[in-house]
Amino acid sequence: MCFRGENKVQYLPIFTKLDDKPVLVVGGGDVALRKCRAFLKARANVTLVAPEFCDELLALAEQNEVNLITDTFKEQHLDQQMLVIAATDIESVNKDVFELANARNIFVNVVDDQPKCSFIFPSIVDRDPITIAISSAGTAPVLARRLREKLETLIPQHIGPLATLVGSFRDKVKQRFKHFADRRQFWEGVFDSSVVSKVQAGNTDAATAQLEQLLDAKPEPEGEVYVVGAGPGDPELLTLKALQLMQQADVVVYDYLVSDEIMDLVRRDADLVCVGKRLGDHSVAQEDTNQMLVDFAKQGKKVCRIKGGDPFIYGRGGEEVQVLAANKVRYQIVPGITAAAGCSAYAGIPLTHRDHAQAIQFVTGHCKKDGQELDWQSLAKPNQTLAIYMGVIKSPHIQAQLLKHGRGADTPVAIIENGTRKEQRVVTGQLGELADLISRHSIISPALLIIGEVASLHHQLAWFGQTEQTSSFAQPITGVA
Ligand SMILES: C[S@@+](CC[C@H](N)C(=O)[O-])C[C@H]1O[C@@H](n2cnc3c(N)ncnc32)[C@H](O)[C@@H]1O
Repeated sequence: MCFRGENKVQYLPIFTKLDDKPVLVVGGGDVALRKCRAFLKARANVTLVAPEFCDELLALAEQNEVNLITDTFKEQHLDQQMLVIAATDIESVNKDVFELANARNIFVNVVDDQPKCSFIFPSIVDRDPITIAISSAGTAPVLARRLREKLETLIPQHIGPLATLVGSFRDKVKQRFKHFADRRQFWEGVFDSSVVSKVQAGNTDAATAQLEQLLDAKPEPEGEVYVVGAGPGDPELLTLKALQLMQQADVVVYDYLVSDEIMDLVRRDADLVCVGKRLGDHSVAQEDTNQMLVDFAKQGKKVCRIKGGDPFIYGRGGEEVQVLAANKVRYQIVPGITAAAGCSAYAGIPLTHRDHAQAIQFVTGHCKKDGQELDWQSLAKPNQTLAIYMGVIKSPHIQAQLLKHGRGADTPVAIIENGTRKEQRVVTGQLGELADLISRHSIISPALLIIGEVASLHHQLAWFGQTEQTSSFAQPITGVA
């Protein structure tokens, strides 16, 4: 078997400890300063050589942070050095540094000249003490930078403090558990416990106390429920917290409203339970869903209860959390972008606008108790926008009541079907023809009704920048006015 890499430049990713080790930077300007700072962070013993130095380097030397040699570069400056960086803008000097260092087997990096580098600086995601380094071996630095940006958003900030806390317990855990397998099991339990969410919430004292307890006793599994809003459909509208919790849950309990693209992001080996909830089709009764969440949590599972939009806006999140609280189950609530906010933005309809609407009302077209009526007098008032959820089936009634209570038949309306998703459709028209538009265009659920003057702005705003500015996910189209 051949262990040698392919016949092209290959790099070995290692993290080196430079504590007090001698390193040389050739150059005295801004680039040299930047590299020098990276070395100082690693507590290296830094020497710089250059005919002159910038003010910041002179100040560092004054504070005894670095040694300066005011001279042109000479081979003897390499004596005893472990690493060297050429950070000058004189090609011949950089070339000399590279060749002389290479001949002595000293690691060398010529800034912005990858062929003259025997080591390179990776892009870093810094969650001290956790460090993630990314390199494209010099081939695609912009791609590596974009990857780093992606990781920055995915790796939670609390990972650093968590690693620090865990590190402070390593010796105690080693003493308590002699075998590696036992130690691993203990740590797995810790990372599945609420120690993590305590650190995440910034409560390090409580996390430390719990770690002490876990060390003393055999830990009982501790369940938790995350009530998470998934937004209206475009996965890029998920919050970072929603994504993190989706990826650490053992069980995911979801509704039809959560898009497939979002469900693709949950932890691969999580158990998935669909509890339905299309109008008139509750595959699991609400009371059974509530009980299911309690039962899973009491079995020690991390449960992600994921809902379309925001859990507390027509999402029954309140009812579920009441039951969790009554049963003393730990929970976290993560808000999501509600349909009114997401759909209106992707359809180019501002919900308020100084010229058209000073108020917005969120309304449900589907009331719990039969005969429970909405306050039509208030809803028919001018200078406001109505965002009507679950209004498709009741649209003839909604139209009739608003007209009866004085809203003009020519009030603009927009119907947004599958808002923010690939299949998004926007149909616009007037209040007097609302029900007819819905039946003529065979509008299906989920769809949101927007009633008010702002709906007419769709034609002005939907065409510009929607794909570039928000996401390529939704493709807004206009219907018949
Ligand atoms: C049971 S409510 C849930 C609302 C959700 N909790 C929220 O905050 O958006 C379901 C209604 O929300 C609206 N809705 C949710 N997602 C939508 C989408 N992507 N496009 C259009 N309407 C949507 C529809 O009116 C649908 O009938």
